[in-house]
Amino acid sequence: FNIDIPANEPVFNYAPESAETKELKEALRQAKSETRELPAFINGKRILEGEKVSVHPPHERSHTLGHFYRGTTEHVHQAIEAAANAKQAWADTPWHERAAVFLRAADLLSGPFRARMNAATMLGQSKNAYQADIDAVAELCDFFRFNAYFYQEIIKDQPLHSPKPTWNKLEYRPLEGFVLAITPFNFTSIAANLPAAPALCGNTVIWKPAETQIYSAVVIMELFEAAGLPPGVINLIYTDGPEVGNIVFKHRDFAGLHFTGSTGVFQNLWKEIGNNITSYRSYPRIVGETGGKDFIVAHPSSDAEQVAVACLRGSFEFQGQKCSAASRAYLPASLWPSIKERLVADMDTLKMGTVEEFGNFVNAVIDERSFDKIAKYIDGEKAKSTSEIIAGGGYDKSKGFFIEPTVIVTTDPHSTTMEEEIFGPVLTIYVYEDDQWEETLKLVDTTSPYALTGAVFAQDRQVINHATRALENSAGNFYVNDKPTGAVVGQQPFGGARGSGTNDKAGSPLNLHRWISMRLIKENF
Ligand code: NAD
Ligand code: ALA
Repeated sequence: FNIDIPANEPVFNYAPESAETKELKEALRQAKSETRELPAFINGKRILEGEKVSVHPPHERSHTLGHFYRGTTEHVHQAIEAAANAKQAWADTPWHERAAVFLRAADLLSGPFRARMNAATMLGQSKNAYQADIDAVAELCDFFRFNAYFYQEIIKDQPLHSPKPTWNKLEYRPLEGFVLAITPFNFTSIAANLPAAPALCGNTVIWKPAETQIYSAVVIMELFEAAGLPPGVINLIYTDGPEVGNIVFKHRDFAGLHFTGSTGVFQNLWKEIGNNITSYRSYPRIVGETGGKDFIVAHPSSDAEQVAVACLRGSFEFQGQKCSAASRAYLPASLWPSIKERLVADMDTLKMGTVEEFGNFVNAVIDERSFDKIAKYIDGEKAKSTSEIIAGGGYDKSKGFFIEPTVIVTTDPHSTTMEEEIFGPVLTIYVYEDDQWEETLKLVDTTSPYALTGAVFAQDRQVINHATRALENSAGNFYVNDKPTGAVVGQQPFGGARGSGTNDKAGSPLNLHRWISMRLIKENF
């Protein structure tokens, strides 16, 4: 059994009248024609118990996609028990059989599950067809396939010297206990990978998704089942986060947290784990990918059109709800008129509306809480004499949570929207004098507590080298002459430092190492 280095799953472009477009439209129609009861999955059993909550597309509040049932503390206990019961058999399953489950899942996802998974992500999270296919199909297939390949490469490595008469061997074992995966709404692929990566390594997992992602999470569980994942290996529950934490973080067998979400939540979870540290068998592994305030900085030698396109795509795809999305830009005065002209002209062409109309580039933000928060930031800037809104600025939640892609130009590099994570379609631009490049690099580095993604634009090689060094701690994923979004598994492992996370690079061998507990065996013969 040998897994070759995989190729990335190609993304469909959903051209009008193509077979894939017809299939996806049919999947959307089918999904909208039914009201789904969305079960939790504990030990393979579907559970519909607890407070009934309805699920609506963010872009069409009046439509009901289905209901989930907010779980009780009893579900947390049941999930822990299911994970404990499934553990030994799963850990003892030969690694290539575990890997085969996820490789099968990738093949099913790129084939028969593709349209259904994309339809669920489009309707549940308001992603357009192209963005859904990048996330819920291509990136997720890549996570499954590359993780299986990386795991194979990790465990065949025996970098040990065994002078006679000794024999030294490293055993790559799962952690003792269970792993908790707490996942965000914004990427179906990340939500699925957080439980899947530890499970591949032989761990059993409790998965608590964001409530706004449950609609696609259920399809992922159906995919795992179809691929042959045994019951109890991944248990999906809908109990409130704090209630889950209250039980899990006091449990002796809690072995690791795989988290993606906001910085504040992660910091609180870390504190809670710290407060209970003497309760556990082992020090829990804590892996968290968190917030960002991602930047674009352009040098006067850069190409104005390239910068304008990067500002648009890097800031506004998926309504800016990518952790990697640019939300602050530092642009040189000499290029600003041409960047502005191209950016504003391109923004005028963006269509906003439902995901079912494939021509719409902009859809809705995830929920009312996000909508209100983003609108408040926009209003705050409208009221400032130092800020000017040069595109967008409007919002309307009567039918869905629609916010126009908004560009703010500020003369204050420390304006609120230059510093705080907004997590929506808002880009703030600070125009600097061309001779202030060094000072601008300092601003980029020191303005926010985050270090997730960033992009530098320049044509001058020395400038690129210098900026790369000056900003070495400012972004875990650093792009030169490219937008700061769109990391591809196997090509650009993803993760940030500072307030943006533990930088364990999703979709890399480093991440898998965190779910492995090595044992060294020395034998004399
Ligand atoms: P969030 O922090 O609101 O929620 C994340 C998860 O934590 C959800 O499942 C939520 O229910 C859970 N949660 C919240 N409070 C909890 C508590 N007290 N105890 C236990 N669980 C709790 O984040 P979100 O709105 O779903 O996602 C957006 C955030 O995620 C942004 O800050 C974004 O930057 C970040 N993000 C980061 C990355 C990355 O790779 N760095 C990727 C995606 C998203
Ligand atoms: N892969 C996602 C991006 O880089 C997180 O935008």
